[in-house]
Amino acid sequence: MSDNLGNMRRTHHCCELGKDDIGKEVVLMGWVQRRRDHGGVIFIDLRDRNGITQVVFNPAVNEAVHAKAHALRSEFVIGVIGKVGSRPEGMINPNLATGEIEVLVTELKILNHAVTPPFLIEDSVEVSETIRLQNRHLDLRRPHLQKSLILRHKAGAAVRQYLNENGFIDVETPFLTRSTPEGARDYLVPSRVNPGQFYALPQSPQIFKQLLMVSGFDRYYQIVRCFRDEDLRADRQPEFTQIDIEMSFVGEDDIMGLGEGMVMSLFKDVLGKTLEAPFPRLTYEDAVGRYGLDKPDTRFDLELKDISDIVENSGFKVFSSVVKKGGMVKALNAKGCIDFSRKEIDNLTEFVAIYKAKGLAWIKVRENEWQSPITKFFSDEEKEKMKARLDMELGDLVFFVADQPKVTNEALGHLRNHIGEKLGLIDKDAFNFVWVTHFPLMEYDEVENRNQALHHPFTAPLEEDYTRLESDPVSVRSRAYDLVLNGFEIGGGSIRIHRKEVQEKVFKALGLAPETYQEKFGFLISALESGAPPHGGIAFGFDRLVMLMCGQSSIRDVIAFPKTQRAACLLTSAPSETSKDQLDELNLRVKPIVT
Ligand code: AMO
Ligand code: AMP
Repeated sequence: MSDNLGNMRRTHHCCELGKDDIGKEVVLMGWVQRRRDHGGVIFIDLRDRNGITQVVFNPAVNEAVHAKAHALRSEFVIGVIGKVGSRPEGMINPNLATGEIEVLVTELKILNHAVTPPFLIEDSVEVSETIRLQNRHLDLRRPHLQKSLILRHKAGAAVRQYLNENGFIDVETPFLTRSTPEGARDYLVPSRVNPGQFYALPQSPQIFKQLLMVSGFDRYYQIVRCFRDEDLRADRQPEFTQIDIEMSFVGEDDIMGLGEGMVMSLFKDVLGKTLEAPFPRLTYEDAVGRYGLDKPDTRFDLELKDISDIVENSGFKVFSSVVKKGGMVKALNAKGCIDFSRKEIDNLTEFVAIYKAKGLAWIKVRENEWQSPITKFFSDEEKEKMKARLDMELGDLVFFVADQPKVTNEALGHLRNHIGEKLGLIDKDAFNFVWVTHFPLMEYDEVENRNQALHHPFTAPLEEDYTRLESDPVSVRSRAYDLVLNGFEIGGGSIRIHRKEVQEKVFKALGLAPETYQEKFGFLISALESGAPPHGGIAFGFDRLVMLMCGQSSIRDVIAFPKTQRAACLLTSAPSETSKDQLDELNLRVKPIVT
């Protein structure tokens, strides 16, 4: 049987007591982290959210309490009254905030028992993520998760403080709404009172924040949940949180400056880190050209080089034919990697195949020759040019991909990150921010057979490209910008279209018929006609930002109750089937599931 709390109330948390408290009578409460029995004296590491204190049950202090302490096991919940004492010589633990003292217990209440947990409540525990997520309430007791969620809380508070001080107001926007186009599938919610009709959960508050600008609210923000049914990865969850911002009467520099100010204040307040501003900027073209990706990890060099012009007439047909078909050949010089084995190169070939590369050619620069399956196809002149452009020196290993630009860049861009990691070129303590600007407004989508907005369809085209909106829409650049940190896209936004004519032109360039865009976005178009100010904004991925601040590699580690790759919550077993009654009420019928 457990004791009741009665009048016992804690006086301190488990991180608080030190030498100055010696002699005080204190009350602590928490969980039994560990029990050690040393020759009749029982030591308990008592844990709460803030830390650990050693509490001691000594028969010489109180025999009955000591006898009761024999029953204590891991994760029991207890309250103790005792006196703070200094630890004996040799038992001081310099790694623990409370390592100089212990509490000599005179009264013990066992507030609750606990079954043996399926894993130890420690950071270094080796256990599958499935078991951890099934027991997330226990997993969350582990110190690193406690620290991460506390840091997340502080980050949210710091962001709010910064935005509040800069004249922003927090406005809530609906969750039960219409589809908001951010490029993912929608989560739908059936309407009981409107049979056959559905709400969509917002992929972002994009349209609402624009409407708030039309309403004159000027500086808006919201730390808000967004919902996207897309393939999940370590940095993607079906529901995630954005720091969503919109401002009126501004241009790109105003929003980027505000974003920098917010991030700097956040890093200073929460991590005590001073960041340098302004953050560097790269155009989309430069980012993809030099790093292969529009979210470059700028903590290390290893830049890609285009050699299409050198090899377009070469005897290596794979390269020359790709260039002739409008593709490109690019190379990555992995400096000093000559010792990579055939097996390692084969593994890297499989790695680039994930990004649809059809092969990975390579050259090893040896003393008197280039070792490679492809050198024989190149003339001396081509080799000389390659050597100069790729800075090929003894000991280097150069990789090549030839394909359409998208494939070449993505494959080598990811290979660059992989090799940077493998060679230990990345300073894990660095925070490298970079803005990527001048994204294309749209790109051709082969599956949908029409142009798709790269950002979203409300992004303004760059003024100087505007005249090509009808004649050559995919060449038009936009006023969008992303903020990238250590190779992760942590934010994105744009200056918006605030004139109806421009918005209609962009919808048309995106292949939307007037009936379609009127049906989907008529309310926005009529808002644009009613005195919409020039406006723009940005949304930061709060989970990603916190993940990087915590030094974690998955956003699941900074979300209290995350979902798995299959979008399931293992703790609650959601999603689940529902009753026939509920389906009837919603006027829904589920097709038989074929497995
Ligand atoms: P965007 O779609 O770029 O822009 O989203 C903004 C930021 O949100 C984060 N993010 C995600 N984080 C975790 N899981 C996901 N599934 C996920 N998807 C996106 C990223 C991203 O940079 N309305 C626009 C913003 C604007 O134009 O103001 C928008 O949502 O860090
Ligand atoms: P093959 O002539 O197909 O045997 O290829 C010779 C070398 O070129 C191998 O190392 C392949 O991996 C590589 N290779 C084949 N196709 C490509 C490509 N599209 N891009 C880069 N390398 C390729």
